[in-house]
Amino acid sequence: MAYTWTVALLLAALVAVTLAQVKVSPKIAAIQQPIRRVYPICNHQRVVVCANNRFALDLYKNIACSVDGNMIFSPFSVSAALAMTYGGASGVTAKQMAKALRFYNMPWYCNVHKGFLALMNLLQSSSTQYILSPCQQDLRRRRLSFECKSHINFADLTQTYYLSPAENLDIRFDTANSLQHINNWVASQTNNEITNLLTALDPGTGLVLVNAITFKGEWVNKFDLTYSGPFHLTCCDTIQTTKMKFGCGYPMMKHGVIPAFDAQILELPYKGNKVSMYILRPNHIEGLAYLENQLNLAILNAAISSMTAKPIDLAMPKFSLSQTIDLKPILKALGMFDVFSAFDADLHKIGTGNAKLWVDFVVHQAIINVHENGTEASAATAVGVCRVKRATPPPIPYDVDRPFIFFIREQTSGSILFMGRLVKPEAAAATAVGVGKGGDFERFVGMKPDQVFRKG
Ligand SMILES: *[C@@H]1O[C@H](CO)[C@@H](O)[C@H](O)[C@H]1NC(C)=O
Repeated sequence: MAYTWTVALLLAALVAVTLAQVKVSPKIAAIQQPIRRVYPICNHQRVVVCANNRFALDLYKNIACSVDGNMIFSPFSVSAALAMTYGGASGVTAKQMAKALRFYNMPWYCNVHKGFLALMNLLQSSSTQYILSPCQQDLRRRRLSFECKSHINFADLTQTYYLSPAENLDIRFDTANSLQHINNWVASQTNNEITNLLTALDPGTGLVLVNAITFKGEWVNKFDLTYSGPFHLTCCDTIQTTKMKFGCGYPMMKHGVIPAFDAQILELPYKGNKVSMYILRPNHIEGLAYLENQLNLAILNAAISSMTAKPIDLAMPKFSLSQTIDLKPILKALGMFDVFSAFDADLHKIGTGNAKLWVDFVVHQAIINVHENGTEASAATAVGVCRVKRATPPPIPYDVDRPFIFFIREQTSGSILFMGRLVKPEAAAATAVGVGKGGDFERFVGMKPDQVFRKG
């Protein structure tokens, strides 16, 4: 064989890249002529979080249409993996990606990648109370004469803004080991929660961009007891599931009413108060479809900022979800066509010499475990890039006893990290289990469905 193939793997960097390392290319420096321009100052992080959260709701709605029942995904993980890919795109391909990822309407003086750098740094400065570590990895095959023709060096971009340095892999001639290597990396970044992100890898794959995020948090208000309680799948179909409650007293929690969604919202903070879970509970048992239809970021943000602390009598299902999603059809539905087309894709900024590149797959996997002490959640996204070869007051009762939406949000930036819905929890074992104060649970068993929530 005349070619030597090497592949660069951008490994998770836990070392923060300081701004001092951002290189200013000589070309750009030369442009700084005596003419002084005053550029407006952009809060890149805020603008990018806004775009990402809009994309999160778009994703939610589109995934909801294509999967039945429960759902869990990490919008942040998907955004980050695709934003890196976007960094290598040009022309119509880039335009379509910007539209789908909601970067399109950002002010001209704002920069997507700078926004991600700010977020990456923010999420990596984890406190002892919770672990939140977004990690990036990028596997790249490059030709012998690897040269970026464009102004942007893709490896520099991922290293500088996504804190992802490179490693070599030989995907073409050592496909099985490469696949194993990627999966092992994801497993190590997600505490072995996600062990088989990729089930197969085509030897023709030139580049795999991988992102992993993991979160572990303890509730500020731990639940004291679990019991078997009702969950209404529909108006006339109720199952018993394991639910959680506070043993004595009703903690003050932030709560709000959202008439536009015909729903209520509740915040469950994790220790450290930098990350919270939010529960969007429809007012009506069969209100989830309406809520999903009305879901809108402006209304949601307004509701979150006007929530007030009230004593809450909370009952919530204990649940774990795991899901793998093929994002390709969903991203196409959001208008990203060209990047998936061997003929139309323009990813020349990734820079593998003359090789034409296109995206073959975008897979996403997420898991969440919500229990009485807190939450563990992990997600990973892989974007597979191919060379063109062939085609392919009194306490407010808040009984979450009906299908609902939840999301985990980083509070400093407002980034939605995980999002999903619980439509059908697991049926509980016949006998109820009390944690801690065993005697208390009976009073919850057999609680009337839909007891309150009618205004009274
Ligand atoms: C919650 O914490 C208690 C006390 O530390 C422990 O016994 C229990 O196993 C924990 N439960 C879960 C689901 O982690």
